[in-house]
Amino acid sequence: MAILLGIDVGTSSVKALAIDTAGRVPATASASYPLLQPQTGWTEQDPADWWNATVQAVRAVLASPALGPAATVAGVGLSGQMHGSVLLDRHARDNSAADARALRPALLWNDQRTAAECSQIERDLGGRRRAVELVGNAPLTGFTLPKLLWVRGHEPHIWSKVATVLMPKDFIRLKLTGELATDVGDASGTLLFNVDDRSWSDEAIRRVGIDRGLLPPAFESAAVTGRVSAWAARQTGLPEGAIVVGGSGDNQAGAVGSGVVSPGFVLATLGTSGVIYAHAEAPRKDLPPEGVTPGRLHTMCAATGTDRHRRGWCVTGVTLSAAGSLQWVRDQLFPQSSFDDLLDQAATVEPGCDGLVFLNYLTGERCPYADPAARGGWIGLTARHTRAHMIRAVIEGVTFSMAQILDLVRSIGVPVRAVRIGGGGAKSALWRQMQADLYGLPVITTNTEEGPAFGAALLAGVGANVWTSVEEATRATIREDEHRDPGPDAPRYAEARRRHQELWPAIRDIVTSARG
Ligand code: XUL
Repeated sequence: MAILLGIDVGTSSVKALAIDTAGRVPATASASYPLLQPQTGWTEQDPADWWNATVQAVRAVLASPALGPAATVAGVGLSGQMHGSVLLDRHARDNSAADARALRPALLWNDQRTAAECSQIERDLGGRRRAVELVGNAPLTGFTLPKLLWVRGHEPHIWSKVATVLMPKDFIRLKLTGELATDVGDASGTLLFNVDDRSWSDEAIRRVGIDRGLLPPAFESAAVTGRVSAWAARQTGLPEGAIVVGGSGDNQAGAVGSGVVSPGFVLATLGTSGVIYAHAEAPRKDLPPEGVTPGRLHTMCAATGTDRHRRGWCVTGVTLSAAGSLQWVRDQLFPQSSFDDLLDQAATVEPGCDGLVFLNYLTGERCPYADPAARGGWIGLTARHTRAHMIRAVIEGVTFSMAQILDLVRSIGVPVRAVRIGGGGAKSALWRQMQADLYGLPVITTNTEEGPAFGAALLAGVGANVWTSVEEATRATIREDEHRDPGPDAPRYAEARRRHQELWPAIRDIVTSARG
C-alpha cells in the first residue's frame, strides 16, 4: 500500500499522519513541546523541540499496526505555523543538517514585540499602502521581517552570525533532506515576497537592507524540494530517498485539506486563533479607498501551484484569540468544566446575550484591527447576567470578529459562495449554527478533520504523481458532510454585532492610555 505522510509543525505540537490514496487516515500521532514566553507579549520556541517532536510523531505513525508491513511511503509533505523566524549560522547552512541548531529560539507568529520595527518597515517601504502593493501585506507584528529587524537591532551579536532564515516547517525540511528551501505560501508571510510574481521581492529586500542571500529558494507547494537523507531515515524510520514537497503554511495546507482550492470557497477555522481563508484566482489586495486602513487582510500565494501551473492565491484574516478566548474563560473561571459543559450552558441563553458583549482581543488583534494594543473585556454587564451569559458572550464575540473579517473579504471583491468550517469550533452544533447565522451562508463540514497535516499529505501525493493536480487530489479524497443554513435566529444578533463592531474604536484611547 502506498502511503503519503503529512507533518504539521503546530504551535503546541507536531502532528504527523499517514493517508492512503483514497484519503483514508490509517495512522496519526502527535508530540508536544512548550511555548516559551520570556516576557509579556513575547512567544518563542526552540526549533530543536520541533525536530525531536517530529521524530517521535513520525516514528509513532510508521509503527502503527494499521499501516501493515507492505506500506511504503511515496512522499512527505510539510505544513506549519507561519511567520516564525528560524535563524541559522553558516555551519548549519553549509555542513550537516544532522547537527543544525538555531542561533536562538524562533520568534513566533503570535509574538507582539515588534511594533517599532513595523513602523520602521512601513517607512522603509514607502508607507502602508505601498507595502501592500509591494508585498501584498501591511507590516504587522506577526510577520517574519519585523522579527529579523528586532534581532538585528537588539541582538547584534546573534544577527552578525545569521546566514539563513527559515520558516518553522522549513527547519524540519532541512533536517529531513539537508536542503534549504521554502514554499511560496510561507514566503508570502515574510513581507519580503512579491505575491503577484511568486518570487522574492528584490525591491522590498533592498529597501529594508536585508541580505538576499539569507533567503532560501521558494518552491510551489506540490513541487519536489528534496529527498529524505540517510541520516534522517535512521532518525525517523522514513525510507531514504522519499520525496519531500514544498508544502505550505498551515492555513494554505489546511485549505487544501478541506478542499478549499477554487474561487468562491472559504475556510473558517476556529482554533486558538480564528482564520477566515478565501481562495482567489488572482492576488487580490486589501487596498481600500483613501481614509480606510489598507492591509487589514493578508494576500498570499495558495498551495494549489505545481511546477507547471504556478497559480492560486488566498486572502486571509486572522483574529488572534478565537477558541483561545474560550480556553481562557475555562482555565480562569471554570477550571472544573469541560468545553462541552461551557457550550451547553451557552446554549441556554438567547442570541444577543441580553445586551452583554465580549471583546475577544485578549492577545492584541490582527484583523479586523491591526492593533497589538487591543484589549478584551465584557461590556454591558448587569446583575441579571449569569455565568452562562458570560460564556455565550465570549462565543458570540469571537464569531462577530470572524463575520466582520468575512465581510472585509467580500468588500475587496473576493467571491464568497460557500463556507467550509474546521477547528475545534466546528465540533459544536451551537457554534456551527452561530457561524451560519452570522456569515449569512450555509456552513459545511467535511469528512476530513485533520486539517493542515492532511493537506500536506495531499500535496505530497501530487508531488509523487499520485494525482495530477491539487484540485484532483481534493476531489479524490474530500466529501462534504453536514450543511447548515442560516436559521431564524440570524436577525437577533444584529444589535449585539453592531455594538461589538463599534466598541473597540470607541474605547481604544481610554483603554490604551497610561497615566503617570
Ligand atoms: C497566519 C497565522 C497563524 C499561524 C498559526 O497568518 O499567523 O494562522 O499560521 O499557526
